[in-house]
Amino acid sequence: MSDDPKPARYASWTAGKLPLPELAEMKSRGDKIVMVTAYDAPSGRLADAAGVDLILVGDSSGMVVHGRESTVPVSLDEIVFMTQWVTRGAKRPLVIADMPFGSYEESDEQAVRNAVRLVKEGGADAVKLERGGTSVARARAIVGAGIPVMGHVGLTPQTATVLGGFKAQGRTAERAQQLVEDAVALEAAGCFAVVLEAVPPAVASAATRALTVPTIGIGAGAGTDGQVLVWHDMLGFYEGRAPRFVKRYAEVGESIVAALGRYAEEVRSGTFPEERHTYRMPDEEREAFERAPSPK
Ligand code: KIV
Repeated sequence: MSDDPKPARYASWTAGKLPLPELAEMKSRGDKIVMVTAYDAPSGRLADAAGVDLILVGDSSGMVVHGRESTVPVSLDEIVFMTQWVTRGAKRPLVIADMPFGSYEESDEQAVRNAVRLVKEGGADAVKLERGGTSVARARAIVGAGIPVMGHVGLTPQTATVLGGFKAQGRTAERAQQLVEDAVALEAAGCFAVVLEAVPPAVASAATRALTVPTIGIGAGAGTDGQVLVWHDMLGFYEGRAPRFVKRYAEVGESIVAALGRYAEEVRSGTFPEERHTYRMPDEEREAFERAPSPK
């Protein structure tokens, strides 16, 4: 009998997965946490290969993948499907599924039921919800059901209309104080980390000091415990204005357009496909086929 207290069936399941408590350790060591969004199996696999720690199956998919004007119409089913795809590709990173607008606001019961779907059907390791206020009780209920929860304060795109649009938050002393209090309340409710979106660095740093769990910033300066960026923004999938906080690490959109342009040109000129892209048939079979009367 093995001395390993971990039964084999658990060992294979957890093999290589970043343990959730490691995130708090990273904060205390001062090691930065790297998070990126992903929405399908190839991007999950690539993020894993690049060594990112956390993958967010974000409702940003509604805008950057599905071409909507906001994240509001994204459905729970969409996030469930995308989480299934991402978890097929990503093995080491913890995969966090966003709870879309309308999936947790009504009651603790609704929030728990839908978080369970994301874990049970989607295969998520954790879920994320937006705002302080009533979301604090929802976070507590989901944590109580045994599901790790990530909070999200500052610019919360699901309620951007109330905030006056996609605008930086916490820019007055009073709003900054409220924002830090919301983050503290989410930690007290059991959240294992809190995203701070589009807030001034001084406010993000104050929240980071006030929390024992890690903060993950997006447009929140360098003082947070980790950073997150949206896949399509950071890899340059499209032209046009990106939020101020986006750094483009690649121009994948340009490479795709160039590749498709070459493909179109070669199809039109007949230089693609070549012999090496085709399947062979034994000569005698081909000759017999060519001798046979053609079907009417
Ligand atoms: O949906 C998303 O991608 C997010 C990040 C911007 C944090 O919530």
